[in-house]
Amino acid sequence: MAGQFGSFQNEIYLQGLADQLPPFTNDPTRLEAAAREKLEPGPFGYVVGGAGAGATVAANREAFGRWRIVPRMLTGANNRDLAVSVLGQDMPAPVMLAPVGVQSIVHPDGELATARAAAELGLTMVLSTASSHTMEDVAEASGDGPRWYQLYWPNDNEVAISLLQRAKAAGFTALVVTLDTWTLAWRPNDLDQAYLPFIRGIGNAIPFSDPAFRARLAKPPEEDLNAAILQWIPMFTGTDHRWDQLPFLREHWDGPIVLKGIQHVDDARRASDAGMDGIIVSNHGGRQVDGAIGALDALPEIAAAVGDQLDVLFDSGVRTGGDVIKALALGAKAVLLGRPFVYGLALGGEAGVRHVLRGILADLDLTLGLSGNRTPADLSADTLRRM
Ligand code: FNR
Repeated sequence: MAGQFGSFQNEIYLQGLADQLPPFTNDPTRLEAAAREKLEPGPFGYVVGGAGAGATVAANREAFGRWRIVPRMLTGANNRDLAVSVLGQDMPAPVMLAPVGVQSIVHPDGELATARAAAELGLTMVLSTASSHTMEDVAEASGDGPRWYQLYWPNDNEVAISLLQRAKAAGFTALVVTLDTWTLAWRPNDLDQAYLPFIRGIGNAIPFSDPAFRARLAKPPEEDLNAAILQWIPMFTGTDHRWDQLPFLREHWDGPIVLKGIQHVDDARRASDAGMDGIIVSNHGGRQVDGAIGALDALPEIAAAVGDQLDVLFDSGVRTGGDVIKALALGAKAVLLGRPFVYGLALGGEAGVRHVLRGILADLDLTLGLSGNRTPADLSADTLRRM
């Protein structure tokens, strides 16, 4: 397994001998600017934006900055193995693709391109309910690739059940339930552009192809798009659920269930008490509550409290291999990437997503070895110092 992912750098340098430069940047700090060049202000603002003044987006990165890796020497870290097991599923690396809706606003292939790139690398893609392609089409693009389904929990039980049944039938093996976005936050970027994909008919492919949802409409979405949009928006946004409703999901989903958006240790305990299989410590990339703690700030306490009872995953602010190492050392079993792969999608469709994913995997592989570690299991609080 030596250099399984890190050898991507050799590939790039060898192409340089033939005067070929990489088609996309390898610098994680330049991805956002490159995507800005490529995208219209509406879609770019939607991806980059956060809630309110952007304080939580900033806090996510600041939280990573407070922890530093302390490299160890002469550990013989040549043969590395990044594989982990999450929810009993073997993964080649502790990296997954976060659920990101409306991907066709940055590239026409949208979720199909993402699914192909993820599948080729064996990384698990989490498909959003707000996908711009149907889950059946994404499943086909994903092929044998591992895939989970993320539910925005509709307040119509029959529609919810129908979505879960379709996800199961299409080979999505775990259910991620996003709790932090039961209504949309105040997002100045989008408000200034008056840009919301859903009311423009984007990101509704899953409900619009759903038999239970279509049964609610006087005319199908193909004939009356506006009526379908007006029916869907208040069905999937605007209603908060409660802890005592979780058994409904258990009843209608027989695979693992993961709660996304956990920030407080008491909520993590409640998830565990409710028999959930996993949680994602996340603040939705700072897109929901402005002025919140950085997601990484919440991780150590939560992992210490429930890490032996369920699988703790992490997202919000992961940009580099070093970031992945920090999240793992603080107790996450794996991380989910968000904006970086979306910028890759914007820059080059499937090839762009693949490039960004391979870059982060290579960086992770090399940084893991150079800090004296061979496997994710080698990482612990002792790997880091808090500044
Ligand atoms: C998201 N995220 C998200 N989460 C979710 O559960 N369902 C969704 O449909 C979406 N849609 C979405 C769109 C866009 C454009 C972004 C940037 C994010 C949140 C996502 O899963 C993840 O939590 C964040 O992206 C993590 O933060 P960073 O790493 O992107 O900063």
